[in-house]
Amino acid sequence: MHTTKQVTWQSPSNIALIKYWGKHGNQLPNNASISFTMENCYSETTLSIEPKLSTSKEIELRFYFDKKENLAFRIKIIQFFESIHKEFSFLRDYSIIVNSMNSFPHSSGIASSASAMSALALCLCSMDDMLNKRKIPKDKFFERASTIARIGSGSAARSVYPTMVSWGKFKKIKGSSDKFATECGDWIHPVFKTFQNSILIASGDEKKVSSRVGHSLMEKNPFAPARYKQAEDNMNELIKALMVGDLEQFGEIVESEALTLHALMMCSKPSYTLMTPNTLAMIEAIRDFRESSKLPLYFTLDAGPNIHLLYPKKIQSKVQEFIDLELKQYCENGRIIFDQVGKGPKLIK
Ligand code: DP6
Repeated sequence: MHTTKQVTWQSPSNIALIKYWGKHGNQLPNNASISFTMENCYSETTLSIEPKLSTSKEIELRFYFDKKENLAFRIKIIQFFESIHKEFSFLRDYSIIVNSMNSFPHSSGIASSASAMSALALCLCSMDDMLNKRKIPKDKFFERASTIARIGSGSAARSVYPTMVSWGKFKKIKGSSDKFATECGDWIHPVFKTFQNSILIASGDEKKVSSRVGHSLMEKNPFAPARYKQAEDNMNELIKALMVGDLEQFGEIVESEALTLHALMMCSKPSYTLMTPNTLAMIEAIRDFRESSKLPLYFTLDAGPNIHLLYPKKIQSKVQEFIDLELKQYCENGRIIFDQVGKGPKLIK
């Protein structure tokens, strides 16, 4: 009889406030970044292994997304497993089945690599501990999971922790490293723990240029050195604002980071744009609303056209009114995903 071993993790997506854009070596960032961990947008991944029937050392993997076998994802995951097989010897010794699903729709433009890669990395680390019959300290477990998640996708390194997370060596952040992320929840002002993220779907279309290609275009971008300096300055200023709860300063930096990211795309060679006319219409409407209402409502953007509206919970009802009245018309089929700062990954079984 064959014994199957199984583990399941849920891991959330995250939204960067200071953007990681440009990398070197084995998935090491060119600047430190910081993000909010989400709550409702997550991946749930089950890793099952059983002894191989053959003696082959080839990686044997079946990959299911939304219960359907997915060959395109399978190829990507095999590449990922090849790059980490020295760390997890069971990857070559067992036959592997991965089942993954996302809580958010596929065509929502929400980056799934952060949640998917962190969920898978957590499963690999749990499985390894189970096979080796050991229990490593919690902080070491998550540090390892973050390191492995990073190799799958840089931003995934930040998804293994709750609330707010930084990644990349930064002198003001104790214990920070380019290899794994660091939790920031214990030093930020409580107002940030109430933050909402309403994702306004300007378009759910597949991205024209992947983040991987985008990162590589930074190598020849003439503004890259200035950008890395700006990211460092913004980290310093944002840390101050996060500590004292300065929402205005927070918003100014976060919006500038989002627009810088897209400006860098526009002046890459070849140049490309991911914002659409509706993205810009929403940015204008948010600025006007903020000007007239004086409410702390800010936006950021991922590598895509969708607006992430960031605001403290106490102004939620006023923001909801503004969304319904003005922003919804710019969303594809009126689509909006409501999320908030979250509690981090969960071991399901
Ligand atoms: C704009 O983490 O998706 O979302 O490491 O190549 O997988 P890879 O890139 P990825 O890049 C994320 C870029 C970003 C900014 C951020 O999340 O910091």
